[in-house]
Amino acid sequence: MPSVVIIGASRGIGLAFAAAYAAEGWEVHATTRTPEDPGELGDIGGNVTIYGLDVRNGEQIAALAREFEGRTIDHLINSAGVLRGVSRDEMMAVNADAPLNIVAALFDAVARSAHKKIAILTSQMGARHGGGIPSSPYGESKCILNDRFREIEPEWRAAGVTSVVFHPGWVATDMGGAGASVSIDESVTGMRREIAGLSPADSGKFLTWTGAEHPW
Ligand SMILES: NC(=O)c1ccc[n+]([C@@H]2O[C@H](COP(=O)([O-])OP(=O)(O)OC[C@H]3O[C@@H](n4cnc5c(N)ncnc54)[C@H](OP(=O)(O)O)[C@@H]3O)[C@@H](O)[C@H]2O)c1
Repeated sequence: MPSVVIIGASRGIGLAFAAAYAAEGWEVHATTRTPEDPGELGDIGGNVTIYGLDVRNGEQIAALAREFEGRTIDHLINSAGVLRGVSRDEMMAVNADAPLNIVAALFDAVARSAHKKIAILTSQMGARHGGGIPSSPYGESKCILNDRFREIEPEWRAAGVTSVVFHPGWVATDMGGAGASVSIDESVTGMRREIAGLSPADSGKFLTWTGAEHPW
């Protein structure tokens, strides 16, 4: 079966990705900041391996990469993100810096795989909508992520890897809140369908969970 690495799988969208791929028999590699107490991630069953990773920690990213030396990762999905309750520095480190650091560390394993796909969770709040950089720290962090993605993605494409960023919808997770308009299942089902259908021509797109292209 194919393999998927899911970064930030302790809860929310990342947890749902892990559960859905595990239910289909995929080889699932899921990261959490609390591997000693994985919570629901420890209960999803299937072929799941859990790794400890705080995405701000370069040594932990390097240790994760060592686990995949000579191995393959068909899909790499970065879901870890933070909206509130942290400093601006932490917001930038988690949302803007870490996704690219993680791809850099795991890229060779993705490029060796059969599927060669990368999906990074961004947000519509990171879109410039034809104007300047969004004013909230969260929007700014996702805007920086989008800009960096657009800059480096052609290199990944040249190496044969297909990569997209997703706006997952306003999703009813801890981050989105109970009043959100999209269920976790709807969002993750939609993104999984889109990822499965990606072709090299789609690389570099900013997609929504419905498969629509989002303006940058
Ligand atoms: N929900 C929405 O409406 C919405 C909308 C647009 C975009 N997004 C994006 O979608 C992604 C997933 O969001 P979500 O709704 O699932 O959020 P969530 O329920 O708040 O979950 C966030 C996940 O990120 C992890 N995380 C945060 N900081 C981390 C760190 N330093 N190291 C490792 N993991 C870390 C959390 O781990 P812990 O359990 O250890 O904290 C948790 O697994 C995020 O990138 C978010 O920005 C969400």
